[in-house]
Parts: sequence; structure tokens; C-alpha cells
Amino acid sequence: MNLPDRSRSQPVHISHIRKSFGAFVALKDFSLDIEAGEFVTFLGPSGCGKSTTLKILSGLTPQDAGEIRFGDRRIDMLPANRRNIGLVFQNYALFPHMTVVENIAFGLRMRSWSNTAKAARVDELLALVRLEGLAERRPEQLSGGQQQRVAVARALAFEPDLVLLDEPLSNLDAKLREQVRIDLRDIQRKAGQTTVFVTHDQVEALVMSDRIVLMNAGQIDQVGTPVDLYSTPATEFGARFVGANNLLKATITGIGTDPQAHVQGAGLSIWLATVSPLVTGPEIWCCVRPEHIAIRAPTETGPETGTLGKVTDKIYQGTTVLLDIEIPGVEKMRAERPTSEANRINIGQTVNVLFEQAHAVPRMP
Ligand SMILES: Nc1ncnc2c1ncn2[C@@H]1O[C@H](COP(=O)(O)OP(=O)(O)O)[C@@H](O)[C@H]1O
Ligand SMILES: [Mg+2]
Repeated sequence: MNLPDRSRSQPVHISHIRKSFGAFVALKDFSLDIEAGEFVTFLGPSGCGKSTTLKILSGLTPQDAGEIRFGDRRIDMLPANRRNIGLVFQNYALFPHMTVVENIAFGLRMRSWSNTAKAARVDELLALVRLEGLAERRPEQLSGGQQQRVAVARALAFEPDLVLLDEPLSNLDAKLREQVRIDLRDIQRKAGQTTVFVTHDQVEALVMSDRIVLMNAGQIDQVGTPVDLYSTPATEFGARFVGANNLLKATITGIGTDPQAHVQGAGLSIWLATVSPLVTGPEIWCCVRPEHIAIRAPTETGPETGTLGKVTDKIYQGTTVLLDIEIPGVEKMRAERPTSEANRINIGQTVNVLFEQAHAVPRMP
């Protein structure tokens, strides 16, 4: 297969983009550098400005201020059809009267590729998205996942500098969505085109991305790898939005070697990893992931990180069980333990609760 190599794809530089709709500020000051060939996900709740950013990148909506460059070339002055961007939307928007081949070749016809070049490129893409046997079908003769792969092939066909995908998996049922996630990630890795993917689904973002741009109310909250966002959220918003988390009010009572702080709150007195700005303020949220809460019999004398709690509910999930735990003076906490371990714990039981790992984010006044 003769796919474009990564050296062909472009880095994208977005600087100080602003956008208002009347008095409403949809994007406050959006800046981001994307590496050539990178898969970047814009993640955030509905209405945070993800689609607006994508529309500005693609040229469908003009920004009020700011610049966009592909490498050294400024492209935000160009009309949409001259930006060389591939687009995939939630509803696929395939041409219903055209076959798979005709749909994929559409952009090539518009760009006057020769018949030979067109046929070769379509063959490459059919192989890439694994639809070789279905070339002559029309969209209505394909499953949702297959249609989505045609839409992706169509967006990649003309070797765009940038591919934008806006919630492309939202219309697929849960099982299929899990499969298409992996397919899409593999297709992007092989094709090597710089890609921005939009989703409000944090699992999708964690599974697929090289980097995640977490957005909140028209602003970037945090940029990082999936591991960064999961293990070291920068804000309370990030700690609550990405994955399940227990947040406990605490106060810093000592600073250790960076990034450690001793914190004290209702029922806890522990050292934990902190984000650097924290050393200036005493108020924090102590964040503990459900899988980092260990549960022991109350008779075991644990280290000082332990505290007594009562198990109030058990939710069976197959390989793991969620355990709700009440600790006097603390919000209800949720632990997640392997089923074999949780089987030994009963509702109503008093247990020793230990935080195996914790992380702190600033508490806003
Ligand atoms: N054309 C428009 N006119 C007025 N408000 C808009 C327009 N497009 C988007 N908005 C508003 O801007 C905000 C961000 O929208 P959008 O970027 O579509 O959010 P997301 O894709 O993250 O769900 C929303 O509050 C939305 O209502
Ligand atoms: Mg949207």
C-alpha cells in the first residue's frame, strides 16, 4: 500500500482565536500547537466550544480574532474549499445515490485527479478502511460502522493537510462504537494525517488520543496525554470530568519535596502528589480514584492514611465491584475493587479505608 508518509503531514498552529455570537463569548482565547501526524481530541461538555473551534479551523465560521497556520503557511484567510481539510461529521453525510467507490472518489473528482490516479487511490483507501468487498454498494446497503468508515475514507482521499472529525461515533450503538474507536485510531496511525477529533465522551478521548485538549466554557482547561489528564488533572473540573473521582476537602499542613504536600481534612492526614501552583494556597481538593481506595478489615492497624468507614452499597460490574463507603464527616466515597476481593466485604460492615494514591487540585474560593 502506498500511503502518505508522516513527513507529508503538517503541524497546525492555532493562536489566540476568539469568537462571540452576539454578547455570548463562545471562545475566549484558544491557542494550541498540533504536531504533524498527531491525533488530538477536543474533549468537553456540550456547549463548551468544540464544534465552533472545528468550524473555524475548517473555514465554515469566521473567527473574530486569531490566526491559524499549517506549518509556516497562514490559512485562516482562505475560503473553506481552499484549506485542504478533510471533514467527517456525526451524520456521515454520504451521498445516498452514489456507491462506496463514488463516495470515496468524490473529492478526487472535484480536484480533477486523472482516472488512473483516482482508481489507485480509491483502492488504497478501500484496503485501509477494510471495505474492499463492498466497493459497489450504496450507503443504505451498509451498516452504521461501515458507513462511517466510508466517510473517513472520503475525508482522507485527497491527502488533506488536516482531518477534522466532529463526534463521528455518536450515532453508533455502544458495541459498535467501541470497535470503530479502535478502527479509526488504527486508520489514522497508518494514514499519518494530522487529526483533530471532537467528543464529549471521556472514554473515547482516553482510548484514541495522542493528546487531549480538555475544554470548559470556551477555554482550554488542560492539554496533555490521556495519562496526564487521568492521573494529574489540573483543576477540579478536570478531576470531575475525566473518569470517576472522589473529591475530599482538605488543607495543606506541610510542603515536602516538590510535588508533595501533607494534607489534613476530615478523617485524613496524608502526603500526596500536588500540582505545582498549589504550594501558594492552602485549600485543596484531595482526589482519590476509586481503584486507589484499598479496603481492609478494621482490626488491621494500617498506616496513617487509613480511616474507618462503613460500606453502604455494592454494585456488581462483572470484573469489579463498586463499593459505596460512608466516612463520618466526609462526602460519600466510591471504591472499585476486583470482584474476588469485594466478595469478602458485606454491606453494613465497618472497614479500614486506605488511599493508595491521591492527587491534589486547587479549590476555588
Ligand atoms: N451560530 C451560533 N449562534 C449563536 N450561538 C452559537 C452558534 N453556534 C454555537 N453557538 C453557541 O456557542 C456555544 C458553543 O457551541 P458549540 O461549539 O457547538 O459547542 P460544542 O460543540 O462544544 O457542544 C454554545 O453555547 C452554542 O449555543
Ligand atoms: Mg458540537
